Amino acid sequence: MFYSAIRKVFFQFDPENIHELTIKSLKKTGASPLNRLYKQKVQDKPVTVMGIKFPNPVGLAAGLDKNGECIDAFAAMGFGFVEVGTVTPKPQPGNDKPRIFRIPQANAVINRMGFNNKGVDYLVDQVRSAKYKGVLGINIGKNKSTPEENAKDDYVHCMRKVYDFATYITVNISSPNTPGLRSLQYGEALDELLSALKAEQKQLAEQYGKYVPVAVKIAPDLTQEEVESIAQSLIANDIDGVIATNTTLSREGVEGLEHGDEQGGLSGEPVKEKSTQVIKMLAKALDNKLPIIGVGGIASSDDANEKLAAGASLVQVYTGFIYQGPELVKDIVAGL
Ligand SMILES: Cc1cc2nc3c(=O)[nH]c(=O)nc-3n(C[C@H](O)[C@H](O)[C@H](O)COP(=O)(O)O)c2cc1C
Repeated sequence: MFYSAIRKVFFQFDPENIHELTIKSLKKTGASPLNRLYKQKVQDKPVTVMGIKFPNPVGLAAGLDKNGECIDAFAAMGFGFVEVGTVTPKPQPGNDKPRIFRIPQANAVINRMGFNNKGVDYLVDQVRSAKYKGVLGINIGKNKSTPEENAKDDYVHCMRKVYDFATYITVNISSPNTPGLRSLQYGEALDELLSALKAEQKQLAEQYGKYVPVAVKIAPDLTQEEVESIAQSLIANDIDGVIATNTTLSREGVEGLEHGDEQGGLSGEPVKEKSTQVIKMLAKALDNKLPIIGVGGIASSDDANEKLAAGASLVQVYTGFIYQGPELVKDIVAGL
C-alpha cells in the first residue's frame, strides 16, 4: 500500500535520478531508527545452500546496490541474502546516460549501465562499515578498459580483495553491457577463467582459514548445447553454484512499446520464462552436482515457486522489487 503510493511519485522522474536518490536515503537510514520506514519482519524459512545457512531463500539480485552502500537497509527489508556489485578493480563511470528505461506496460526494465561503480576498494570499505552479519554475496566483474584476454586478472584481483568479506562470491560473465564479457561463457575461455579462480579460491581458503563458495552468473540467451557445455565446465572446475539468469538481449514482450527498442539488457516479466527454461536445462545437466540460484522476472510467490520447481534452491529479485517494493520480499517468502 505504502510503496504503491511512493511508486507513483518515483515513476514521474528519471529512473536513474530516483535510483540515486533512493540509494542515498537508504545509505543514510539503513542502520538508524529511521529504517522503520521500510523495516519488516519476514517469516523464517531457513535453507542451507553451498554450505551456507540462509534465513529465507529470497535474495536481492546484483546491480541495485553496486557499491554496497545500503546493505543494512536491504537487510532490514527482510531479504534472506543480499548480493552487492557488480564491482570492478578500478572505479569506472559506465555508459552514457540515459542508460536505464522503465517499460511499465510489460513490468520490465531495459538497462545498459555498463558496470558503473566506485571500484572494489570502496565497496570493501562499505562492507566493513555495515552492521549486517547475514549472508552477503559480492558480485565481481572486469573493467571495460581491460582487454578481454586479461579479463581473468580483473576477476582474480577482485576475488582477493573481497574474499574475507563475502559469504559467497559471484563471477559475473553475463552482463550484455560490457563488450566481449559474454564470450567468457564459452569453451576454453570459460575453463581457463574458472580454473584460475578455483586455484585462487583454494589459496585464499588456506590463507584465511575459511572456504568462501564461488557462484557463476550466466545469461538467459543460451542454447541447450551451450547450457550443457557450461554445466560441464562448472562441474569439472568444482564451482559451488550457478546464478541463472542475467538480463536478455531479446525484445520479445516489449516490441512496439515505448523504450522497447533501447539497447541493453531486458529484465522483469519478459525474461521470466527464458530464465526458467535455462534453469530447467541446467538442472538436468548438473544433476544436483551444484545448486542453482534462480533470477529473472520474479514478481510473486508463484513466480518464485516456479523457479524452485524448475530446479533452483534460492531466488533473487531486482525488477519486481522496483515495481513492488519491500512488500514483495515478505509476500514471496510467505507464499513459498
Ligand atoms: C538496472 C539493472 C542493473 C543491473 N546490474 C547488474 C549488475 O551489475 N550485475 C549483475 O550481475 N546483474 C545486474 N543486473 C541483472 C539482475 O541482477 C538480474 O539478474 C536480472 O535483472 C533479472 O532479474 P529481474 O527480472 O528480477 O530483474 C541488473 C539489472 C538491472 C535491471
